Amino acid sequence: MPPSQQQIESLVQTALLVQQRAYAPYSNFLVGASLLTTTGKIFHGCNVENASYGLAICAERNAITTMVAEGEATIAAMVVVTKGGGSPCGACRQVMSEFGDNFPVYLVDSNTQGITHIWQMRDLLPGAFSLIQRDA
Ligand code: THU
Repeated sequence: MPPSQQQIESLVQTALLVQQRAYAPYSNFLVGASLLTTTGKIFHGCNVENASYGLAICAERNAITTMVAEGEATIAAMVVVTKGGGSPCGACRQVMSEFGDNFPVYLVDSNTQGITHIWQMRDLLPGAFSLIQRDA
C-alpha cells in the first residue's frame, strides 16, 4: 500500500530533524533518512563519520539497522534528505533493496524542504543481488 500524505509528511519531518544530528565534520555533508515499515512504524538515521574516513556510515543504512534491531524488516517507503536532494549511494541501494520488493524513495532538498524526486526502489537498483541469485 502506498504511504498516505500524512505518512509522507511525517517521514519528511523526521528526516529533516535527524539530518541536523548528522556527525559529518569531515565532509560537512549532512544526510537524514527516515523509513516507514509495512506495520506503520517510522525509523530514522543520519550519517556518522570518523577520523578514519573510510569508516563513515550512511544515513540510509543507519535507519535500516535501527529498523532491524527493533524487529522490523519490510520497508514501505523511505525519505532521504540532503542539501540539494541527492540520491542514495550504491552501497545503500543494495542494502535498501534487501528489505522490500519495491517501495517509493522520496528525495528531499533540505534547502527548500520539498520533495525533488520520487524513485521506485526497483528503478534505483535494477538487477540487485538477492538471495534468489545466491541460492541458484
Ligand atoms: N552519505 C550518506 O549518508 N548517504 C548516501 O547515500 C551518500 C553519502 C554520507 C556519507 C558521508 O558521511 C557523506 O555523506 C559524504 O559522502
